[in-house]
Amino acid sequence: MPTVRDLRTKAGEEPITMLTAYDAPTAGIVDDAGVDVVLVGDSVGNASLGYETTIPVTVDDVARHVGAVSRATDDALVVADMPFLSFGVDEKDSLENAGRMLKEEGAEAVKIESGPHTVELTEKMVQLGIPVMAHLGLTPQHVNQYGGYPRQGTDQDAAERILELARAHEEAGAFSLVLEHVPSNLAAEVTDAIDIPTIGIGAGPDCDGQVLVVDDAVGLSEWSPSFAKQFGSVREEMENAVEEYVTSVESGEFPAEEHSHEEADLEDIY
Ligand code: KIV
Repeated sequence: MPTVRDLRTKAGEEPITMLTAYDAPTAGIVDDAGVDVVLVGDSVGNASLGYETTIPVTVDDVARHVGAVSRATDDALVVADMPFLSFGVDEKDSLENAGRMLKEEGAEAVKIESGPHTVELTEKMVQLGIPVMAHLGLTPQHVNQYGGYPRQGTDQDAAERILELARAHEEAGAFSLVLEHVPSNLAAEVTDAIDIPTIGIGAGPDCDGQVLVVDDAVGLSEWSPSFAKQFGSVREEMENAVEEYVTSVESGEFPAEEHSHEEADLEDIY
């Protein structure tokens, strides 16, 4: 079982791979493929729960999915994403919510969408034994403030703020940093400036690792962001299989003899 320390060692040697997973079968596939980190993202809200944003996702939602993922994961590091307002409002609640992911659900670390308000909290969590993955750049829990999902760090001031916050979270003890939807040259600079691994999503090739939402990577999502790459066509496969099922039932082709069992000893029932 890799630890957050193994991840730090791997950075700079070999690219780190991270994918989201929300359920046991997907986690098993991701883990068997040798992915280093499985993130139970609050993207479960869009990917699996039918929400338009991650705002409605609750601690109970994430906890349930973390449990499923960690039961199916043998090798990868399991990281639980803390949902909107589950951290940063009240310190005690933040620590209890994050602690629950480790204590009850089998996660080995948490990810928090970071900002100036999470530096002290990161330090406190780390002191208590909760490893923290920070997340800067586009933080989707700010969708209502952004009015969408725009690229971040595109002017000098904004880029410097991201670099400053990256340093502050490293100093606070974060073991890694997700950089989302930022210019690739900014991601390269941040990666150079800090010792903890950066994991990019829409942040170019120079981070220490890459992360994608699994539904985007395998081609299950109905829509995916322009920076995501589809490595398979799972949606098309499912559509074809479901259409064939409907046709087979309607035509009487399914169930066939091999899918049924007639009990010879049964007497007629009236
Ligand atoms: O929730 C999520 O899936 C994430 C990743 C995209 C980094 O935060």
